[in-house]
Amino acid sequence: MSMATPTPIRDRVRVFAPATLSNLGPGFDVLGLAIDEPGDFVDGEWSDRPGVEIAGMRGNADRLTTDPARNVVGISAAAALRLADSGAAGPRPPGVRLWLDKRMPLASGLGSSAASSVAGALAVSELLGGAFDRDQLIACALEGERAVSGGIHADNVAPCVTGGFVLIRSYDPMELLSLPVPEALRVAVVHPHTAVSTAEARRLVAERRFAIGDAVANLGQLAAMITALHRSDLALLGRSISDALVEPVRAPLVPGFAEVKRAALEGGALGCSLSGSGPSVFAFAASDDEARMLAARMADRFREAAGLDCDCYAGGVNQRGACRVEDGA
Ligand code: HSE
Repeated sequence: MSMATPTPIRDRVRVFAPATLSNLGPGFDVLGLAIDEPGDFVDGEWSDRPGVEIAGMRGNADRLTTDPARNVVGISAAAALRLADSGAAGPRPPGVRLWLDKRMPLASGLGSSAASSVAGALAVSELLGGAFDRDQLIACALEGERAVSGGIHADNVAPCVTGGFVLIRSYDPMELLSLPVPEALRVAVVHPHTAVSTAEARRLVAERRFAIGDAVANLGQLAAMITALHRSDLALLGRSISDALVEPVRAPLVPGFAEVKRAALEGGALGCSLSGSGPSVFAFAASDDEARMLAARMADRFREAAGLDCDCYAGGVNQRGACRVEDGA
């Protein structure tokens, strides 16, 4: 990894890091994509006090601590400061002061901890004038993600940084591949108002013994999904959202999931699965209208089947990734 050419440091920055959908059916821990909303904002400024201070939080932050050693924003920002000290980022004040605007729901399966982790690292990078490249941002953000999710997985952090679809070819060494985004592809996402602990959901997977036939099924689906993205073949893409390994293990954690998935597919979804470890559920569609209709349909079914209200999102794939914003959006 190389440090980008240093530019003058900035006094104050505001950054945005988007939500992400991970696994996408067959791609457990290796496939993810970014969506436009929701996402987290972090404001940062330099401080004479060494290290990281979380000076304020708002939004869905009731259950979060301002202790920078126990909040992913602080952990990833501290990793970014250490990286700056180890490289050619140039002179800087001793510390940073951060404010987290936590707009993402916690434990939602939408990459909430990844978004905050990326925002913490990006805020430091942008204060340094945009000092870090993609891989450096991901490495810093993964330190935050690791602290809360019970293991290293980059399928939220990576697309959060880069935007678009990302495939993680290898974790050691880390190698990411950006995949094409079919122009017509739209995504419907519903977040039911219940929580799934990623660490707990990962423990369930780690404890399970899997049949080789199920692994074979997922290999075929994952390869087909990559092919579909390269061909812009939405029908094949949708058919490939099939997970014989992880979804069956985790579906019981999400009340109403089977009914919601059936409703999406009967409503014309190209494909449907859990987002990350859930409870959010996503469906692929071929137009904005279809995506909005599917989100409403899935939300209705969550209410009928499990008594759960939902937040709904419908739109395209975010292709920009986490970024500095000029003013408060
Ligand atoms: N790939 C991770 C998992 C994503 O499924 O555990 C967690 O959001």
